[in-house]
Amino acid sequence: MKLSDNKATLSFSNGRPAIELPVYSGNIGPEVIDIRKLYGQTGMFTYDPGFLSTAACQSAITFIDGDKGELLYRGYPIEQLATQCDFMETCHLLLYGNLPGVADKAAFVKNVKYHTMVNEQMQFFLRGFRRDAHPMAIMTGLVGALSAFYHDSTDINNAEHREVAAIRLIAKMPTLVAMAYKYSIGQPFMYPKNDLSYAGNFLHMMFATPCEPYVVNPVIERAIDRIFTLHADHEQNASTSTVRLCGSSGTNPFAAIAAGVACLWGPAHGGANEACLQMLEEIQASGGISKVGEFMNQVKDKNSNVKLMGFGHRVYKNYDPRATLMQETCNEVLEALGLQDDPLFKLAKALEKIALEDDYFVSRKLYPNVDFYSGIVQRAIGIPVKLFTGIFALARTVGWIAQLNEMISDPEYKIGRPRQLFTGSPRRDVMAIAKR
Ligand code: CMC
Repeated sequence: MKLSDNKATLSFSNGRPAIELPVYSGNIGPEVIDIRKLYGQTGMFTYDPGFLSTAACQSAITFIDGDKGELLYRGYPIEQLATQCDFMETCHLLLYGNLPGVADKAAFVKNVKYHTMVNEQMQFFLRGFRRDAHPMAIMTGLVGALSAFYHDSTDINNAEHREVAAIRLIAKMPTLVAMAYKYSIGQPFMYPKNDLSYAGNFLHMMFATPCEPYVVNPVIERAIDRIFTLHADHEQNASTSTVRLCGSSGTNPFAAIAAGVACLWGPAHGGANEACLQMLEEIQASGGISKVGEFMNQVKDKNSNVKLMGFGHRVYKNYDPRATLMQETCNEVLEALGLQDDPLFKLAKALEKIALEDDYFVSRKLYPNVDFYSGIVQRAIGIPVKLFTGIFALARTVGWIAQLNEMISDPEYKIGRPRQLFTGSPRRDVMAIAKR
């Protein structure tokens, strides 16, 4: 970051002298006011619940221009990565900063492939869960448990450990998600197959059985690969910030990523794709397209607490570029599977059309986000709704680990320790229990 010519002056109404705060600029995006010395100089904190105006770190990985609807991984637009590269190339880019050439890609893919199996003992750990447990509950446990099974890569201050942990996490997440699924339906776990692509292998572990050969459908393989690419990173969102904060204590990478999985589960974040599909199914069950108007009235009623899931974003105040790409994939998958007349897809299109023309959504700059169409694609592929967020976690793992490793390598990194505005009781004395 560079010191800007711009300076910020903070003045006070109580006679305290004004102070000057340095301003830094990045390469693109808003400048930041450096308030690190504010408390030391004034005894005051800043107040910013939800981090609406706070940059908690510097990062060179992902950039979002919410007004333009632009998403760049290491400078490359998501549209180009999604159409000209595959997920493995995207992982290499996020982790190491460059798109690999042929030889580097082959070496990276091989490295990931040779880490896809999980310790055999993990399935006995998994068997402790109820069969009907939510896959995200299982994933939170399994990812945390990796630190017990791979103890030789848990030192976050050791660059070699961080590298091995990164590859292990990227390689093993599909295996764990597929195991969680197979367990829920009582089918045998399928071991990874090294002659398949990352996405193809995931489909194999999900849908193959030991009874007959499984042939990967290339349209579905491409769709899964695109889902992974679109979800790979998204700068300092809630789960990534959770991973950074958790990792800032020096905990091991598996524990930090498990914290990210837990955060992602919430319906305002990664759980939105599951919530979005449930919403579509509920509207469909209550009468379908004829009920859209009624549903929209509930969404706009402030007392109803009903939200149009898959719409709105803290950063995008324009079309989420991932939603455009996901809609394209949705069309491709539905066509390949002969599901063009899928009622939920038609319903989603009807909701989108109304929302994009309705003043409530237009004035608040609420547009479809990535989750609006990803659920329809996944459902068409045969992925159960409860597993959607697990797949998001699988894809986001590379982003989490790239951000965690960037933080650890940053000389300015410190344990995260937000402050507070205290609104509770001042000091008071405990009364004897009989007198309370
Ligand atoms: N439906 C109806 N109203 C909405 C919606 C929605 N989906 N999203 C925002 N609003 C309203 C909100 O009520 C508020 O209205 P008002 O100004 O009258 O109080 C206004 O729009 C601004 O919203 P906000 O809640 O202050 O915005 P936020 O930045 O705090 O929340 C959000 C962002 C994503 C949590 C929110 O838009 C939301 O809950 N959307 C639905 C869930 C969803 O699709 N989440 C996935 C996000 S993309 C995937 C990911 O990155 O995890």
